[in-house]
Amino acid sequence: VIEPDRLRVELGARSYDVLIGRGLLAGAGRHLKPLLTRPRLTVLTDRTVADLHLPSLTRALGDAGIDCRPIVLPPGEQTKSFAHLEQVIDELLAARTERGSTLAVFGGGVIGDLGGFAASVVLRGIDFVQLPTTLLAQVDSSIGGKTGIDTRWGKNLIGSFHQPRLVLADIDTLATLPRRQVLAGYAEIVKYGLIGDAAFFAWLEDHGSALRDGDPAARQHAVKISCTAKAKIVAADERESGARALLNLGHTFAHALEAECGYSDELLHGEAVAIGLVMAFDLSARLGLCPSEDAARVERHLAAIGLPTEPAAVAGRVWDIERLIDHMRRDKKVQGGRITFVLARGIGQAFVARDVDLKEVSGLLEEALAA
Ligand SMILES: NC(=O)c1ccc[n+]([C@@H]2O[C@H](COP(=O)([O-])OP(=O)(O)OC[C@H]3O[C@@H](n4cnc5c(N)ncnc54)[C@H](O)[C@@H]3O)[C@@H](O)[C@H]2O)c1
Ligand SMILES: [Zn+2]
Repeated sequence: VIEPDRLRVELGARSYDVLIGRGLLAGAGRHLKPLLTRPRLTVLTDRTVADLHLPSLTRALGDAGIDCRPIVLPPGEQTKSFAHLEQVIDELLAARTERGSTLAVFGGGVIGDLGGFAASVVLRGIDFVQLPTTLLAQVDSSIGGKTGIDTRWGKNLIGSFHQPRLVLADIDTLATLPRRQVLAGYAEIVKYGLIGDAAFFAWLEDHGSALRDGDPAARQHAVKISCTAKAKIVAADERESGARALLNLGHTFAHALEAECGYSDELLHGEAVAIGLVMAFDLSARLGLCPSEDAARVERHLAAIGLPTEPAAVAGRVWDIERLIDHMRRDKKVQGGRITFVLARGIGQAFVARDVDLKEVSGLLEEALAA
C-alpha cells in the first residue's frame, strides 16, 4: 500500500482530512469505518460513475463489513434540481436515515453539491463524505463545504455551507474521465497557480501535458497542491466574507459566458474559466496593474494545453456585450451594485477589486469579441 497524501482543512470542530492517492477506493472501508456509527452507508452517485466505479466501491465497503445502499441519478447539471433534491431526501428517509447516518457522495461536482445539500437539510443535518471522481471535484468542489442546487433564476442560488467529514480523492478514478472533462478540471488547477503560487504555475507549464495525458504522479501532485491552496483559503474565510473571493479568479467572466450558453455542454464550466482567466489577466494588464507579458503567458499555457482562451472558441455562438455585462450585474457576488472582480498584479498575485470601471470591462469585451 502506497500511503496517500493527507492534508487537513482546519475549521475548528468542523476540521477534516483530505486524502489524495491511488487505489484509495479499494481501501475506502478502512478510512470510512471509524466515521460510521452503524456499518451502513448510502452512496449517492450518477449513472455514468455507477457503471464505471460503483461495483469496486461496493465490494471494498463490503469487505470492510459496510452495507452500501446506492442512489443513482442521471448525469449532468440538470440533476442539481429541486426535483432530484426531493428524490434524494425521500430515498434517505425511506432508508431510515438517522441523525448518526452518513451519506457518501460519489461523483463529480454535480453529485457533490446536490448530495452535500441534501445531507445538510435532512434531519437538520447528517454527516457526509466526499468521494470525488472528476478532476474538477477533486481540486475544487469537494473541499470547502459549499453545497447547493440550481433554479431557473440561476445556478447555485439555493444552498448551504456544510463541510464533509472526509474527502477521499482517488486519482485512479480519473483514468476513465473524458479528455474534455480533464481539461475543464485543469483550468481550475491553473487558477490556483495564478492566484498565489507562481512556482506552481511554472511547474504546470512543464508538467501540464503529462498531467492531461494521464500521468498519475503528475495528477496526484497537482491535486495535492490545489487542495492545499483551497484548504488554506477556506480555513481563513469559510463563509466568503473576504479572502475566499480570490477563488473566483476568472469566474465573473466565466459565469457570464456560461449563462449565455445555458450551462450546457456547449461550454463547460472549466472551459469558461479558462477564457475567464485570460480575460481577468487581460483586464489587469489593460488597467496597468499587471505586465502584459504575464497575461500573454497565461494565454499561451492554456492554449498549449488545449483549453479555449477566447469567447470566439465557442463554435457558432454570437456574443452580445450588453448581455454579458448584464449577467455580471446579476452575479451573486455583486455588492451594493458593484461588480467584484479578481484581478492580478502578475502570475501568482491575485487580489479582489471592488471598484472596476465597467467601461473598461466593456472595452475589454469589445476587443476580445472583435479578435
Ligand atoms: N461546491 C463548490 O465549491 C463547487 C466548486 C466548483 C464547481 N462546483 C459545481 O460542480 C459542478 C461541476 O462539477 P463537474 O465538472 O465534476 O461535473 P459533473 O459532476 O457533471 O461531472 C462531469 C461528467 O463526468 C462524468 N464523470 C464523473 N466522474 C467520472 C469518471 N471518473 N469517469 C468518467 N466520467 C465521469 C459525470 O457523469 C458527468 O457526466 C457544477 O455544478 C458546479 O457548480 C461546485
Ligand atoms: Zn470554478
